[in-house]
Amino acid sequence: MASPPRLASRLALLSGVAVLSTFAASCGTPRPDARASDPLAGNEPRVEELLARMTVPEKIGQMTQADQEFLQDPADIEKYFLGSLLSGGTSDPRESNTLQAWTDLYERYQQHAQRTRLKIPLLYGIDAVHGHSNVLGAVIFPHNIGLGATRDTELVRQIAAITAQEMRATGIHWTFAPCVCVPRDERWGRTYEGFSEDPELVALLGATTVRGFQGTSLRDPLSVLATAKHYLADGGTLMGTGVGEGRGLDQGDTRVDEQTLRRVFLRPYQDAVAAGVGTIMPSYSSWNGVKMSAHRYLLTDVLKGELGFRGFLISDYRALNQLDPDYKTAIEKSINAGMDMVMVPDTYKEFIGHLTELVNEGRVSSSRIDDAVRRILRVKFAMGLMDADRSVLADRSLQASFGSAAHRAVARQAVRESLVLLKNGGRTLPLSKGAARIHVAGKNADNLGHQTGGWTISWQGGSGNVTPGGTTVLAAIKKAVSPNTNVTFSVDGTGAAGADVGIAVIGETPYAEMMGDRSDLALGPEDVTAVRNLRAAGIPVVVVVISGRPMILGDLLDQADALVAAWLPGTEGDGVADVLFGDYRPTGKLAYTWPRSMDQIPINQGDARYDPLFPLGYGLTY
Ligand code: GLC
Repeated sequence: MASPPRLASRLALLSGVAVLSTFAASCGTPRPDARASDPLAGNEPRVEELLARMTVPEKIGQMTQADQEFLQDPADIEKYFLGSLLSGGTSDPRESNTLQAWTDLYERYQQHAQRTRLKIPLLYGIDAVHGHSNVLGAVIFPHNIGLGATRDTELVRQIAAITAQEMRATGIHWTFAPCVCVPRDERWGRTYEGFSEDPELVALLGATTVRGFQGTSLRDPLSVLATAKHYLADGGTLMGTGVGEGRGLDQGDTRVDEQTLRRVFLRPYQDAVAAGVGTIMPSYSSWNGVKMSAHRYLLTDVLKGELGFRGFLISDYRALNQLDPDYKTAIEKSINAGMDMVMVPDTYKEFIGHLTELVNEGRVSSSRIDDAVRRILRVKFAMGLMDADRSVLADRSLQASFGSAAHRAVARQAVRESLVLLKNGGRTLPLSKGAARIHVAGKNADNLGHQTGGWTISWQGGSGNVTPGGTTVLAAIKKAVSPNTNVTFSVDGTGAAGADVGIAVIGETPYAEMMGDRSDLALGPEDVTAVRNLRAAGIPVVVVVISGRPMILGDLLDQADALVAAWLPGTEGDGVADVLFGDYRPTGKLAYTWPRSMDQIPINQGDARYDPLFPLGYGLTY
């Protein structure tokens, strides 16, 4: 897999953007401004003093992360000295998914940790990957594929800071984000979690997001701990090597030489480490057949040695299970490779038992355990969790701004800037707000779950009104037009005759991870029908594609007078209407190459085949 031409040269060519050229030239080392002061520094004496007082069970407990939904008894936190809990994609408070229930849950678990001998607070982790997206009522921002199209670092930083604030409103202080994957094959179900196919843009926005989450100090009560994931080359796997039923790409094998591995996939981690990211999550996937979660060279020699990463490695969900048929051997391989904390959602007791045996048998050294716990404590001290005057309770005063209009306004701006105008024949856009009648069609026009996508309220996302406070594209269109404009709607586009213009909102339905691996990215028949019916009505046709990746458009591009890529915009559908009706002139530029056909994929290989429908960096305005 050849490395891509430098982003700066392509972007400067395509859109006159020179700002990125400065650091592309320095490719291979972090940009000077990426070297934030080290947020993990300054606590070593306190770390060593505490470490020296810890027993082996207390140390191994700190290395253990269970999923709260599988805790057999909350008192297990005390019994096993657990250092961390997570809520996986669907691990909600049993009583209800409300702001109060989440906050009460967080505080209850912390109080159990306060009853241990050393009172070391828990780290509580969650996938707040586009807002505090497990919690009903949270603002849901565009997924990273849309943020990549904005190339707006200040906006991206602001989004992370707002997400951190909405997390803190529940007390939760650790997000498994940003994903700094570099997706190289759009058939991968996690393409939308990546900012771009180009490592330079990923490095820029990944480090920016880390600084947005972690602020100028991890002690700041509005900062949260970030996670750069999934290390390394999760976005470079080959079709057919994955875990999905169709043996897709997810969790598969990336087969490249080390120079390409460093240039394409390690690049974002250089800037994330330089920005002071506190945790890094190794990938389920492999490099040339060796699983990342047991890859000593890449985890310890490269990441901790060469790059100087001083935080800790958190495994992926049950990732160690894939390392060896014998669970104890799997644990031995991963811990000795450099894994520091292990996400064992429902096998925390077995994990602790096996690791204790491994230490007693000398198969895992005490120095490796101490290194892991030192890193974990370093992060907890840096976050102020160990400060005597620090409460482990949530700051409930932050709940007043949870899901607020001010936060939604930033999300709306992100939607505006993320939209990419790919076609505008006959200056169809911007549309008039004073049209007599507008007919809207498409399965994604009035479906909040479809526009928020995966990792929203539940792991795979959902359909319909998945969370309160959002605005569908159809609702946004109705709000945007004049009171005298009649807006009609049919999913299949029938009934459009006589309207002034038709708008079809089509694309994908939600998915996450391997569930999104596809061998065919063609639009579905229901989408083709909706556009065809609008076309048959003899009116101008605007197509809005809501999807987690570029889709194969086929002749639909000819059928559309105007076409806009909206990615997965989140709850603020008003941002789509702003671009359709001229309240915001489109500025988005493709962060992924848009192929003509399936046989071009993977297309961004830097070779002669690069003949896309729309190249990286493309985007029109009006
Ligand atoms: C998942 C994902 C990872 C996520 C973790 C916890 O399997 O691979 O991105 O952070 O589990 O939900």
